[in-house]
Amino acid sequence: MTDIFDTHAHYDDEAFDTDREELLASLKGRGIARVVNVGASLSSCRTTMELAERYDFIYGAVGVHPNETAELTEEGLAWLKRQCAHEKCAAVGEIGLDYYWDEPCRELQKEWFVRQLCLAREVKKPVIIHSRDAAKDTADILTVEHAGEIGGVIHCYSYTKEMAQVFLDMGFYIGIGGVLTFKNAKKLKEAAAYIPLDRIVLETDCPYLAPEPNRGKRNSSLNLPYVAAALAQIKGMEEEAVRQTVWKNSLKLYRMEG
Ligand code: NI
Repeated sequence: MTDIFDTHAHYDDEAFDTDREELLASLKGRGIARVVNVGASLSSCRTTMELAERYDFIYGAVGVHPNETAELTEEGLAWLKRQCAHEKCAAVGEIGLDYYWDEPCRELQKEWFVRQLCLAREVKKPVIIHSRDAAKDTADILTVEHAGEIGGVIHCYSYTKEMAQVFLDMGFYIGIGGVLTFKNAKKLKEAAAYIPLDRIVLETDCPYLAPEPNRGKRNSSLNLPYVAAALAQIKGMEEEAVRQTVWKNSLKLYRMEG
């Protein structure tokens, strides 16, 4: 079957400290052909780009997660901009709003979200959006900033199908991961059925959110076939056809060659 592209992973996380090298070395032989490792703080952006330099099939995204934005300064933003010039930097992210972990204050989250959107526009990279319990403010900011011109993905999608249409109208891809396999994920299953397949990309967000039957364990890209199978079932399609389409979507999202 066609290989899978993990569009959102955190292999720099300490959960992989014991076996990172063996695990990453095994991915290509086990059907995972490409990975975008996503930074969430300035230090994880650094380790992300180190991984991207070390492994040919790993690319990096650099950005500061909303809950980490208290560390951002003009200097930090300038440093991020320099990282964007790296040939293996695929995107700016993850950036956005998180009102579940409601800190730092919303005004600060919004300010750095906008600043990092502007950075992405400047360096001509797509954005990886993290949005939790903040659908309206996220959509409002993306609209005001004309983020449709920037492009990107709403990662770990958790809102309704109606909200998905708002992001689809702006041209965004929708990132779907392990939650799709959870029995209680009715809202996400409805959204996945609704969103056109040519706008969906697969992601792990590993080490978090492992799919069934490995729910609760450490996640890795090796679990993505479970998500692909669940998506194929929801779409009423062959898994191979789903894999081919989401592979192409992932390349388009990150503007990569096959
Ligand atoms: Ni993430």
